[in-house]
Amino acid sequence: MPDTQVSTPAAALLPAIRAIVGERGLITDPVDTAPYAEDWRKLYRGRTPAVIRPANTAEISAVVRLCAQAKVPIVPQGGNTSMVGGASPMEDGSEFILSLSRLNRVREIDALDMTMTIEAGVTLKAAQNAALEAGCMLPLSISAEGTAQIGGVLATNAGGNNTVRYGNARDLVLGLEVVLADGEIWNGLRRLRKDNTGYCLRQLFVGSEGTLGVITAAVLKLAPRAREIAVALCAVPDAAAALDLFGRFQAYDATTIQAFEFLSGAGVDLVLRVIPGAVLPFARPAPAYALVELATSRPDAGLRASLEKILETALADGVVTDAAIAESEAQRGAIWKLREEHSEAQKRAGASVKNDISVPVSKVAELIRRATAACEKLIQGVRAMPFGHMGDGNIHFNLVQPEGADPAWFLAQDHALMEVVNEVVRDLDGSFSAEHGIGRLKPYLMTDWRGGAELAVMRRIKQALDPNGIFNPGRVLP
Ligand code: MLT
Ligand code: ZN
Repeated sequence: MPDTQVSTPAAALLPAIRAIVGERGLITDPVDTAPYAEDWRKLYRGRTPAVIRPANTAEISAVVRLCAQAKVPIVPQGGNTSMVGGASPMEDGSEFILSLSRLNRVREIDALDMTMTIEAGVTLKAAQNAALEAGCMLPLSISAEGTAQIGGVLATNAGGNNTVRYGNARDLVLGLEVVLADGEIWNGLRRLRKDNTGYCLRQLFVGSEGTLGVITAAVLKLAPRAREIAVALCAVPDAAAALDLFGRFQAYDATTIQAFEFLSGAGVDLVLRVIPGAVLPFARPAPAYALVELATSRPDAGLRASLEKILETALADGVVTDAAIAESEAQRGAIWKLREEHSEAQKRAGASVKNDISVPVSKVAELIRRATAACEKLIQGVRAMPFGHMGDGNIHFNLVQPEGADPAWFLAQDHALMEVVNEVVRDLDGSFSAEHGIGRLKPYLMTDWRGGAELAVMRRIKQALDPNGIFNPGRVLP
C-alpha cells in the first residue's frame, strides 16, 4: 500500500518508521487501520495514517524519537477495550496508533519472589494463565481480560472484581519499563518489596492513560494460587440488603473475600434475554442479586461451611431471600456469566450511558437508590442497570435507552444523565471516574472535580515529562 498521498507531518515520517519496524510492523491501508481507530463502545470513529506495531522496546524507542522530533502525536493502544475512548485516535487523522500487541512475552516468573515480569502486549487472561502454571495467581480480573493487554491495564490502573482484596492494578506493580517522550528507555523493572529511593516514578505512569510515557513491560506482584473457592449467587430484596450481606462476610473474615459484586434485577433479566446460554439458578427472578466469591490458598479452610453459615443467618434475617452455591466449576462459571455478560448484553439492547463511579462502600446502596430515582425523573422509561464492584464501592451505574427510543437521541442525553448521577456521587463524597479512567469521554469534567492545585500539578507533570505533547494529547487533562 503506498503511503498516504496527502503530505502531513505524520505521512512524511512513514518511510523512516517503515525502516525501523519493517513491513510487518506497519499497517497503512485504511480498511485495515479502521478496526484500531474505532473503540469497543463505538463512540469514536477516528482515523490514523498508520498503526505502528513495533516488535520490541528498542523499536518503540526509535519510533518515539522520530515522532518527538517531528512533533507528531501518538496514541498508545493495547487490546482497544477502553470504555472512555482512551485509545482512540482523533478524527482528523493526525495521530499514529502505537500498538503494543507484538510485545507479548512473559519474560520471567519467580514463585518465591511471587513476581511476574511481563511485556505490555500480553493479554490479561494469558498473564493469569502463566501465573497459574507457575503455581501462583495474578489477582486482577476484569470482564475484558481475554482482550485487554497488560500495558493498557496498567496505563488505566484497571480495577475489576478482585480490588476488594488485592487493590487496583497500581497495587500490583513493583517495576516498570517505559519509553519516555524523547524516546529514552527507562528500565525500572525492579522486583523489590522495599525501595525508597526518591519519587515513585512507576506510580506516575500507572493510571496516566498513555499521556506520560509508553509502558512496555512490568513486574507484577503475584499471590498464592487459590486451592479452595466458594461462590454463591444470592437473591436479595434490594441494594441495602446486598450491602448488609457484604458487611456480614467482612466481619466474619474479610481476608477470604475475593469478590463481592452487585447485580440489579433488570440487568440480570436483560442478560437472560439476550445472552445465549445464560441461566438463572432460581425459580423466580429477584429485585437484585449479590455475587460472592470466597477463596483461600489453604486447602483445609472450610470455606464452603463458612459460606453456608453466613447465608443461613442472612436467610433467616430476610437479608437474602434465596441462594445458589456453585457445586462445580461449571456452575461457578454459569454464575459468573450472569455478571460478566452485563456490558455485552447492554450493548445489544441499544445505546447506553455508562457512569463508572465510586463512593465509600457504606454509601453504595444510597447511591443506587438516589441515582436511579434521579435518572428516572429525568428520562421516562430509562432503564437503570447498576452493577459491579460493591465490595470496593465502585458501581457501573449504566443506563440503557428506553425501549424503542432513538439511540442517537438517547446518546445525546449522556451529559445530562451523567450530571444528575454525579450530583448524587458528589453529595456522597465519591468519584466520577472509578476504574475506567478519563480518556476522551471525561476530560471536560476534570476542571470541576480536580481543579485548582490538583489539576495545576498534573499539568506541570505533563509538561515536564511530555513537553511536546506527543502522547495522547487532549486525553485526561482538559
Ligand atoms: C465491568 O466491570 O464489567 C466493566 O468495568 C463495566 C462496564 O461495562 O461499565
Ligand atoms: Zn468494572
